[in-house]
This record gives sequence, C-alpha cells and structure tokens, in this order.
Amino acid sequence: MSQAEQNQGGDAAQPRDPKRRHDYEGQAKFERGLLRRLLELILPERGLVIAALILFPLVAGVQLVQPIVLKQAIDGPIKAGEVSPLAYYAGVYFALILFHALLQYVQAIVMQLVGQRVMKDVRTKLFRRVVTLAPSYFDKTPQGRIMTRLTGDVANLNEFISSGLVSVIADTVLLLGIVAVMLYMDWRLALISFALVLPLIGAIAWLRGRIRQLYRAIRNRNTALNTYLNESIIGMVIVQAFTREERSASEFKERNYGVWREQLRGVTLSSSLSAAVQLAKVLSLALLFWAALTKVFGITASLGLIVAFVDYVDRFYAPVDNLSGRYTILQTAMAAAEKVFTLLDTQEELAQPQDPTPVPELSGAVHLDNVRFQYATGEEVLHGVDLEIKRGQTLALVGATGAGKSTIVKLLGRFYDPSGGAVRWDGHDLRDFNLQDLRRRIAYVPQQTFLFSDTLGHNIALGPGREEQAKAAAEAVRADSIAKDLPEGYDQLLGERGHDLSAGERQLVSFARALASDPELLILDEATANIDGETEERIQQALETLLADRTAVVIAHRLSTIKQADQIVVLHKGRVAERGRHDELLEQRGLYWKLYRLQSEEAA
Ligand SMILES: Nc1ncnc2c1ncn2[C@@H]1O[C@H](COP(=O)(O)OP(=O)(O)O)[C@@H](O)[C@H]1O
Ligand SMILES: [Mg+2]
Repeated sequence: MSQAEQNQGGDAAQPRDPKRRHDYEGQAKFERGLLRRLLELILPERGLVIAALILFPLVAGVQLVQPIVLKQAIDGPIKAGEVSPLAYYAGVYFALILFHALLQYVQAIVMQLVGQRVMKDVRTKLFRRVVTLAPSYFDKTPQGRIMTRLTGDVANLNEFISSGLVSVIADTVLLLGIVAVMLYMDWRLALISFALVLPLIGAIAWLRGRIRQLYRAIRNRNTALNTYLNESIIGMVIVQAFTREERSASEFKERNYGVWREQLRGVTLSSSLSAAVQLAKVLSLALLFWAALTKVFGITASLGLIVAFVDYVDRFYAPVDNLSGRYTILQTAMAAAEKVFTLLDTQEELAQPQDPTPVPELSGAVHLDNVRFQYATGEEVLHGVDLEIKRGQTLALVGATGAGKSTIVKLLGRFYDPSGGAVRWDGHDLRDFNLQDLRRRIAYVPQQTFLFSDTLGHNIALGPGREEQAKAAAEAVRADSIAKDLPEGYDQLLGERGHDLSAGERQLVSFARALASDPELLILDEATANIDGETEERIQQALETLLADRTAVVIAHRLSTIKQADQIVVLHKGRVAERGRHDELLEQRGLYWKLYRLQSEEAA
C-alpha cells in the first residue's frame, strides 16, 4: 500500500475531488443529498425522534425563563431590600435548573437510542451488501478499508445522530429563543449586544472552509494508516520472518506522524474558532455594559435587565463556542455517511437472471466453451479455452504457475464471468442459473484452506443442521482422527485462523467440508504444501474417496492424482497445450513429458 492506496482513499469521495473544491453550489447540493439519505435512515425511528423533537422547545423554554426569574428577583425583592420573598424566587430558580437537567437527560437517552438502533441497522445492511459482492470487488479493495466502513464510519454516523443532530437542533431553537426574548425585553440593547454576531459569522465561515479541507486530509491519512496496520497484522509472520520489524515500525511511524501533524493543525484551527467566539462574547458584554451605563440611544436598563442580558449573552455564546466541535462531528459524519452510502450502493454482484433456469442434475458434462477471461487489470489471462468435464470423471489441470489453472476453476464456480465464450452445465450457460442454486451443487476447495474461528464440527458443516453429514464426511476422508485427538472433539474451538491444526490436517478438514455438501461437481485447487509422509498418505486416500464416482476438476500437483485422472489438460499461458491420459501424453514427449520429468526428479 502506497501512494496508490492514498489516492484511492481520495477516490472513494468522488464528488469531492480537488477540482470541485470551490464548487460550493455543487457541494451544497451534494450535502443535501447526503442529508436526505441520512434522514431516510432515521425514518424507521420516527416515533423516538418526534419525542425528542417535542422535548427541544421545552428544554430551550426552561433555559429561557431562568434569566427572567433572576431579573424579577433583582428588580423586585432585592431592590426593595425584602428578604422573605427571595426564598420563593430561589426555589423557582432551583426547580427550573433541576427540571432542565432532567429534560436534557431524557433527551440524550432518546437520541442515543435512535443513534444506536440506526447504527445496528446500517451495520447489518452493510454486511449484507459486502457478503454479496463479487470477488472482483475484493480484488481491488483493501480489507482495511472495508473494515473501516463497518466500524469507524458507522460509529461516526451514530455520533452524528445521537449528539450532532440533537445539538444542532437544540442549539438553533435556543439561539432563536434567546434572540426573540432579548428583542422583546429591550430591542435596542439587544441589537447592540448582537452587533458582533455578523462579523463573527464571517470569521467562522472562513475558518470552517479551512477546517473542512483539513479534515478531509485527516480522514484520508487515517484510512491509509488503518490499511497499513491491517496488512501488517495479517502479514506479521512475513514481517518477522524477513526481519522487517524495524522497517515496518518506521513506515508505520511515518504514517502515524502524518496523521498527528494534520490532527495538530486541525486542533489549532478549531481552537482559533473557539478563541474568536470567546473574543466576540467578551466584546459583546463590554458593548452591553457601555450601552447600559452611558444610556446611549435613550436606553434605560434596570439592574435586573442588565443581569438578565449578561446571562442571555453568556447562554447565547456557549453553543456558538461548541460549534467548532460539532462542526467537526458533522464533517466527520458527512464523510462517513458518504463512504457508507458508496459501499451500500456498490453494484458489483454477478448478474442474476430475471427468470432463472432451474439447475438440472448433471447428466452430461460441464463445458468450457471457447472461454476468454481478463481480471480487472485488463490483461487477458485465458485466450479461448475449451474443456469437457464428463459426469463422474476427473479432469486434472496441470501447468506452470500463472498458466491460468486457478482462474479456470474460479470460472467453473462462477466466481467470475468469462469475458468471452461460456461455461455450460449440461448445455446451459451458468449465467442462466440462480447463483446460489448453482453453488449449492458445487464444492470448491481453494488452494489456501480457510478455517473460521469456530468449532471443528461447524467448520466442516458450515451451518446448523448438518452435523451428521459433517461427521460422516469426516470419517470418509479420515478427518475423524483429528476430532479424536482434540480434547473436545468436534466441539473444539479452533484458534483464530485455524492455527492449532497442521497444514495436512487443515486440508483434510477442507476435504471433509467439501464432501459434507455431497457436491455434483467438485473443484479442487490442490495445495502444494509440504506434508510429512504419513499425512500425505492419509490425504492421498482421502482424495481417492473424494473423487470416486464424482465429477471433478482438480488442479493437481500430486503425481498420483494426475495419473488416476480420466483426462489431463496441460495449460500453457492461458491456452490448452495438450490433453489426454497420462500414458498418451508421455508418448507425445511434449510439455507434459517435461513437467513430468521435472516432478519425478523433485520427488527423487
Ligand atoms: N485476482 C487477480 N487479479 C488480477 N490478476 C490475477 C488475479 N488472479 C490471478 N491473476 C493473474 O492471472 C494469471 C493466471 O493466474 P492463475 O489462474 O492463478 O494461475 P495458476 O493457478 O495456473 O498458477 C496470472 O498471470 C495471474 O497473475
Ligand atoms: Mg493457482
């Protein structure tokens, strides 16, 4: 991961590319679109949201009344020097404060509920989307990025709903209320108190533009950092084996430093926003005192009114001061929302027919019919391949690394669609079937066995209600001895990524998994891992069980598997070079003969 990844990080935010940075109108339209979709997400929780909405004016109202009580206390009993009625005012003031705290508490809980529920739903939706995406998507998307979408970005959305949204609405209601009450109490004094608001808004707008850009940079750097971290953890063995720890750590340090530097600039800018607000507040108070004391414009203010106004000005600037923090939340949430929606909108499944043909039980053969294929990289890796896999027979694919063997089997399982020609099942194009229907009839054993951090039994059955088949399959391929060796048998939890089984055992588990689904077509990308003699023998026997009377395509490395195949196809640079049975191919003294000789020498 390098420059390219960082660029891609930026690409994810397509509509915000630098060329459009100054296109504020476009930006505004774009943000309205995002906001609309965010609101759609919140729609299912509208009951709770309405409850919160009713609370907003209440909370603001309770706050607005407090300075009035103060004013009346000062201009009434305090001015007159009467002590006893003061207790009454104090009691009311205290009750208002308590009531306000209670309302805010309820409001916070309600909005947290909304935020948490939306987060849960969005995360589920995202995962559903991700599990249905085609392998081509994962070819080009770093895992770290997908992880960030489902964790950090979703959490940011929650933050937006549970705190950002509430504060923005609550603050707006409060600010409008304060302005209205002050204007009503003394409009001239009010106007003087707010004289600095306009220049302040100008300053805020200017700073906001810069903060927005900065946070975009911070996000991209964060994504880059996450991706690097993710890859390092997955590849830790490599890092250590090649003593790259120091190099890795310093690369990480550099990226981390980049994030830190931008964050620092962000904090500095946010703080200047806060400082500007504080300055405006102090100056406003000074203006207020000046106007009240010099009685300009014929202003006559009682002491109570002045105290109330000081209180209002204070309350007015508090939310404005918090604005920078909230603005950050909003910015982060908008960016997160954009990325989350991009992933939700990703249409990269394999096309499914409107009216799928039911998959018939395989009676004839599976064909590759002049198949051409290229990955997203654009270079053609299969240049017109014809194959026939007859029912009940085993076809062995052999050839040098990079010849296209794995690609062929991935096309057979319809993980990709050919770019030319077709794969046919009893004459039907695979694309005419429902994908899941087709896959249920196929078992695919990839070269890299993958075990989930689940029990051994679940790893074979891959789903509930198939325990019996799983055990039978394990016995058939002699994987049952693995269960016998484990303290908890089939219920043994395998360590993360299956580290507590040997390579050979893991292969046996993946064979059992394939057999448990009793597939009509078995696809096996044979592992080349070096395995000790005893396990090798077990795997050999397991393979024989697996392949007996089954339609199968095997990418074969073991000579014994190849020799027993009904048909051997030799691939060379994306083309079929030779085909036939073992003896026939040896007689030709071609590519197969050379490969065979190499293998025999290795074995010797
Ligand atoms: N996911 C992928 N994206 C792009 N190119 C790929 C991908 N997988 C394989 N290739 C390329 O396709 C060619 C055939 O690869 P593959 O089918 O894996 O060969 P084999 O299994 O015979 O070793 C190689 O040149 C390889 O680099
Ligand atoms: Mg391969």
